[in-house]
Formats: sequence, structure tokens, C-alpha cells
Amino acid sequence: DQSQRQRLIEAHREAQRFYAEQLLTPAAQEGRRFLRERGFGRADAEHFGVGYAPGGWEALTTHLRGKGFTDHELITAGLASQGRRGAYDRFRNRLVWPVREVTGDVVGFGARKLDPATDDGPKYLNTPETPIFKKGHLLYGLDLAKRDISRERRAVIVEGYTDVMACHLAGVTTAVATCGTSFGEEHLKILRRMLLGRSNQGGEVVFTFDGDAAGQKAAVRAFAEEHGFASETFVAVQPDGLDPCDLRQRGGNAAVRDLVANRKPLYEFMIRTVIQQYDLDTAEGRMAGLDAAAEIVASIRNEGVRKLYGVNLDHWLGIMDEAFVQRRVAQHVARHRAGGPARRPAPPAPPGAADS
Ligand code: GTP
Ligand code: MN
Ligand code: MN
Ligand code: MN
Ligand code: MN
Repeated sequence: DQSQRQRLIEAHREAQRFYAEQLLTPAAQEGRRFLRERGFGRADAEHFGVGYAPGGWEALTTHLRGKGFTDHELITAGLASQGRRGAYDRFRNRLVWPVREVTGDVVGFGARKLDPATDDGPKYLNTPETPIFKKGHLLYGLDLAKRDISRERRAVIVEGYTDVMACHLAGVTTAVATCGTSFGEEHLKILRRMLLGRSNQGGEVVFTFDGDAAGQKAAVRAFAEEHGFASETFVAVQPDGLDPCDLRQRGGNAAVRDLVANRKPLYEFMIRTVIQQYDLDTAEGRMAGLDAAAEIVASIRNEGVRKLYGVNLDHWLGIMDEAFVQRRVAQHVARHRAGGPARRPAPPAPPGAADS
């Protein structure tokens, strides 16, 4: 209910303040070093509200008890866990990023492990599902990006908290990230409202992926399957698989802006990723690549767009017989219509990607 919600938000406001203060203490030296090495200064940390959750077991719990919160409230908020001897801190010796509603209310945290050697949980630990933290409905950075998403009619989806920071600092102020989950229907719904604008023309959704296959596959699949490869969807991938934060460290702000400027339509990304898996030096390889790619082209609903991808496909495969390629695509289209293989094309497995 409303009053419980208010209490949980108050607990988060107090927790965020506490964590931010902790970042300035000697104990947070490793945390400050991490930020510095990522190219984030003190003002940047403050702007995004980054903080430090101390090691030990009850720094935050003790602090919030002192502010009048009950253990039950802290556990419900996801800030503490239930132990045998009462509540204890969920986040320990981690950098923490406050996740905010568009209203600016902090409703949860993303927390990164600082010492990779400890087996104290995964690299990133997020707030669990709570009455105020529904990760399927939240986008990290949306409170900051909202206005520019509406203005530019573009949203850039990145993978992590540090990537959102890097993008915004580089001038890509339309960047948001999911909170440890793949991009889903609810995320799209939220963005759609901002992207559509008065003319009701769709804006652009740009996905950036790093080299890690799980992220790429999950996001492309979820999005493509649910939305029939919407033509306003773009992909921005750095050839070396660097994410925006890595990219900014190496190439500065301009490299991050270039990444987004060089975005490719999702269809093109999908098709080229599939084609890359075949040996185009042989006729057999080109034919196999044609069939795999034609399957994707055939799934494009807009006839004109489908036709133009047929033209591109001919070039990408080096077949040099457009009519032949278009016929092949048409065969796949006919098979789809006949209810043929009632499956959508499998999303590409990025080459060289090991994990899934
Ligand atoms: P950094 O070294 O922090 O830059 O990590 P990375 O770039 O390798 O992060 P990666 O691309 O693997 O992850 C990006 C985002 O995925 C994070 O911000 C998290 O939201 C999420 N994520 C990554 N690892 C985990 C994990 O172990 N558990 C959970 N729940 N989420 C994770
Ligand atoms: Mn990744
Ligand atoms: Mn990773
Ligand atoms: Mn990454
Ligand atoms: Mn990273």
C-alpha cells in the first residue's frame, strides 16, 4: 500500500545518502580507485549518486535502525537479509549505484563487487524484487535520460551502470540500462511513450552490446521475437566488443559518440552476423549463407524494405545475381505464408562467442 511504499522509499533515500558518505571514507579506497580507473571523477560519482557499501555485516542495518526503521522494513526493502541473528546488510564491500524511478525516487541498488577474489556473491548484485523494485519495469538512468529521449526520439540501451555513466558523460544523454535482466516488453512500453511524440512516428531504439554473447543474444532475441524486427531498431556494436565504458577509457568521449553514430539497422546486423558464419569463398558457402539470410529477410513484413534487403543481400554475399537472390527470398516468404516452418529465424550466435 501507499504508506508502506513511502517507508521503503524513505529507507532508500537514507541508504543512498549513507552509501554516498561512505564513499568518502578511508575504507572506500578500493571503490574510489575503481571509479578513477574507469575515468570517473568525484563530481561524476556525485552526479550519479554512486556510493560505497562497507564490508562487515551491519553498517547500513545499524544506521537505518538508528533512523527508526525496523528489521522487517529493511528486509522488505531488499536492503537487508534475514539471518539467524536478525537482519544483516545485503550489500557488503561493493560500489553501489542507486536505481531511480523517473520521478527520481531511489527504489533499489545495483552493486558491484570490488574484490574479484572473494566468493561473496556474483560480480553484480541487484536489489531483489520488492514492492517498489520491479526490474522488468525499471531502466537505470531513465530519470536523467527521459527528457532527451523525448527530444531526440532515440533511446540508447546499454548493458551496465558504468556504461550509462560513460555515455552520459560523453554526451550520449539518451542512454539507459536494464538492471541485470534482459530488455523486455515492459521496458519497451515505457520507452515507446517517450519515443512516439506528437506525430505518432516511431523513434529509434539503439542497442549496444559488448563482446559477451549472452548479452547480445538475449537482447536481440527478446526484442526481435516480440516485435517482429521493428524497423526502427538499431544496433551499435564496437568491432572489438568493447562496451561504452571500456570504449571511453580507451578512445575518449568521441569514441562513444561514434559508436552510436555508426549504428546499424537491426536487420542488417542480424543478416550480416549470420552471413559471417559462412565461407563466402565457396559456392556452397554462399548458397548456405543465402538460405540462412533469406530466412531472416523473408521475416521482414514490409515488402519494400524486404526487397531492398534482397538487393543488399546479393552484395553482401557476392552472388551478383539479384534476381536469383530475390527468388530465393520469395520462396522463403511463400513457405512462411503456407505456415511452413512455423518458427522465426534463429537469432544469430555471434561468431567467436563462447558463453550463452
Ligand atoms: P564491468 O567490469 O563492471 O564493466 O563489467 P562488464 O562490463 O563485464 O559487465 P557486463 O557486461 O558483464 O554486465 C553489464 C551488466 O550486466 C551489469 O551492469 C549488471 O547489470 C549485469 N550483470 C553482470 N554480471 C552480473 C551478475 O553476476 N549478476 C547480475 N545479477 N547481473 C550482472
Ligand atoms: Mn556484457
Ligand atoms: Mn562481462
Ligand atoms: Mn560490459
Ligand atoms: Mn564494462
